[in-house]
Amino acid sequence: MNRVTLVDVFKHRITQKYLQRSGIHHAVTVSEYAFEMALAHGVDPDLATKSALLHDMGHYEWYRDGKWDYDEYRKSDIHAIKGAERAHKLLIRLGEDRLVAKEVSVAVLLHTDSYLPFGLEEKRTPLQHVVAKADEKDEQPMGLHHYKKMDKSEAIEKLKELDVQIEKVLKEGKELSG
Ligand SMILES: [Fe+2]
Repeated sequence: MNRVTLVDVFKHRITQKYLQRSGIHHAVTVSEYAFEMALAHGVDPDLATKSALLHDMGHYEWYRDGKWDYDEYRKSDIHAIKGAERAHKLLIRLGEDRLVAKEVSVAVLLHTDSYLPFGLEEKRTPLQHVVAKADEKDEQPMGLHHYKKMDKSEAIEKLKELDVQIEKVLKEGKELSG
């Protein structure tokens, strides 16, 4: 089976719809961080970058009266749950392997513990750890990282480059964990 690429995932209309809200710049930057961190931790870079690209696709509008209400948003936020469901549905539609779709979906679900009554630190698998740390690395106060701009064409170029590097690593056939 051919690998579903990051570019395939990115170009899909569902991804385009939902990444507009959380920001293409953040999604692509976190994917780049996740690739480097995956290699450093012996994690499968295909799983890490797909999870990173899609980790915030569960974000929804958090404007109130035409203004962004961050505190109100945080209180009712379940973007990780929505994102896990959306990422899974999207990957299955793209013909992704079911185990990959599940691993990515769970990594999206656990990329933050801000909505949970307990912390996840020390409990995450290496893949989930890489995705959470890559996200943290690009975060800015008050969620400003969601507002940085990146053109669709620039995003595709960067993801193409990542796809080439991922396929190179996968071909080398090293032991990688999920
Ligand atoms: Fe994020």
